[in-house]
Amino acid sequence: MQKDPATPGAAASPPARREFLKQGCAACLAVAAVGTPAAVGTRVFLDPLTRLKTVENFVKVTTLDTLPEDGTPVQFPVLADRRDAWTKFTQVPIGAVFLQRQAKDKLLALSVVCPHAGCFVDYVEEQQGFLCPCHNSLFLKDGGLKDEQSPSPRPLDTLEVQVRNRNEVWVRFQDFQLGVTEKKPVA
Ligand code: FES
Repeated sequence: MQKDPATPGAAASPPARREFLKQGCAACLAVAAVGTPAAVGTRVFLDPLTRLKTVENFVKVTTLDTLPEDGTPVQFPVLADRRDAWTKFTQVPIGAVFLQRQAKDKLLALSVVCPHAGCFVDYVEEQQGFLCPCHNSLFLKDGGLKDEQSPSPRPLDTLEVQVRNRNEVWVRFQDFQLGVTEKKPVA
């Protein structure tokens, strides 16, 4: 006996099956079209340092009036414009820096990266110095090694800093090789 297509469990007619397959394919193509750029975008977002090129070396970090007169170091994020082969990305985070006043217009910029193995150091007010939480390297307020037993092979890395237009603080942001006594920029 032939099944009635209108009753539940009845076999779909060939035109209905074709329509179903057409809609299924359209959905797959839509997922591929949206999913591929989303996956690429996620990778760029998660891994901007390895995929993007720095646009310039000196970057504006803050203004002079944000730095305490008493010389307390303050950590600032470093944002810069970067680009890959196709796109320019504006103001993406590329690192961080400690800035402090050593005199009215004399500034010191220190990398936040511990030269031992690359952890970020913290400024500890009570110790008037920096501590690396990973293996307890201790640094003086000016970045020097506080304890010769510290695992870090050298002081914190200084960065070039300039005051432009009387109030803008610009830093030449660089990465340096880890685990070596000499301060050598990463090529
Ligand atoms: S990474 Fe800082 S002491 Fe090891």
